[in-house]
Order: sequence, then C-alpha cells, then structure tokens
Amino acid sequence: MIIGVGVDIVEISRIKSAVSRWKEAFLKRIFTENEIQYSQNKKFVYQHLAARFAAKEAVLKAIGDASIQRIEWHNVEVLNDEFGKPYIRLSGEAKKVKEDKNITDIIISMSHTHKVAVANAILIKDGKE
Ligand SMILES: CC(C)(COP(=O)(O)OP(=O)(O)OC[C@H]1O[C@@H](n2cnc3c(N)ncnc32)[C@H](O)[C@@H]1OP(=O)(O)O)[C@@H](O)C(=O)NCCC(=O)NCCS
Repeated sequence: MIIGVGVDIVEISRIKSAVSRWKEAFLKRIFTENEIQYSQNKKFVYQHLAARFAAKEAVLKAIGDASIQRIEWHNVEVLNDEFGKPYIRLSGEAKKVKEDKNITDIIISMSHTHKVAVANAILIKDGKE
C-alpha cells in the first residue's frame, strides 16, 4: 500500500552558490561521504548533489508530519545500485520513523538537467500496492 508521496525540485545554481559560499561545511552538513564521492566523480557535480538534496526533501515530504523535524540530512542517504538506480538508506531518527510507521520500502526516482534537479519519493507499507 502506498502511504506517502513526495516531490521536490531544486535549482542547480542554488546548490552551487551554497557550496561556493559555505564550502565543506555545507557539503558535510547535508551530504554523506558516499553522496559527496558519487557526485564528485561525475562530470556535472552539482546536478548530482542537487538531485540528492531534492531526494532528501522528497522523502521528508512523503513522510509529511511532525516527525520530520527530528530527522537530520544525513539520516536520509541516496545510494545507487549496480545499474545506477537510486535507492534510499535511512539511519538515526529517519530509521526510527520508518519503523514506527511500518514503512517497508521507499521508492525514489531522480532526474536532472543543467538548470534543475527533481526527485520523487514513494513510501510503501507492507509490500502490497
Ligand atoms: C536509466 C536512464 C533511463 C537514465 O536516463 P537519463 O536521461 O540519463 O537520466 P536523467 O539525467 O534524467 O537522471 C539521471 C538519474 O537517473 C537515475 N538512474 C540512473 N540509472 C537508473 C536506473 N537503471 N534505473 C532508475 N534510475 C536510474 C539516477 O538517479 C541518475 O542520477 P544520479 O546519477 O545523480 O543518481 C538511462 O541511463 C538509460 O536509459 N540507461 C539504460 C541504457 C540502456 O541500457 N539502454 C538500452 C536498452 S533501452
């Protein structure tokens, strides 16, 4: 059963400005080492960072209640499987929220251009549609 849907769109220039202004402090506050490494190994680094930012926001929107205030950016991590398909790994408070709500799966999809990145998250409970 689908119990939540979230979407977010991020301008690549916003992420680029934040990185040039706050540098490592911004990167390390928002993104995990895996996310930074993945993005920095790509030609268009900021598109991948922006997509990951959008994905984190999309997951929070899909949860959508007061519990999201306890979740830190690092607690929602975007990883990619062997085919490049993104998936979410939760930790800390986000993992607790997932358990409390009996969320069994989080489906994420992302796309990016030179201007914007977009992500969509779907929360599944019990594995049934
Ligand atoms: C997967 C695919 C559709 C993505 O298309 P694209 O236009 O390059 O992707 P976008 O720029 O819109 O989005 C990129 C995001 O797609 C996602 N993505 C990549 N591979 C994916 C996959 N296998 N499944 C789902 N999402 C995927 C990633 O999140 C990626 O962003 P990231 O690298 O920052 O994580 C494309 O790479 C593709 O067609 N791959 C298969 C090619 C192939 O085998 N074709 C032959 C048979 S048709």
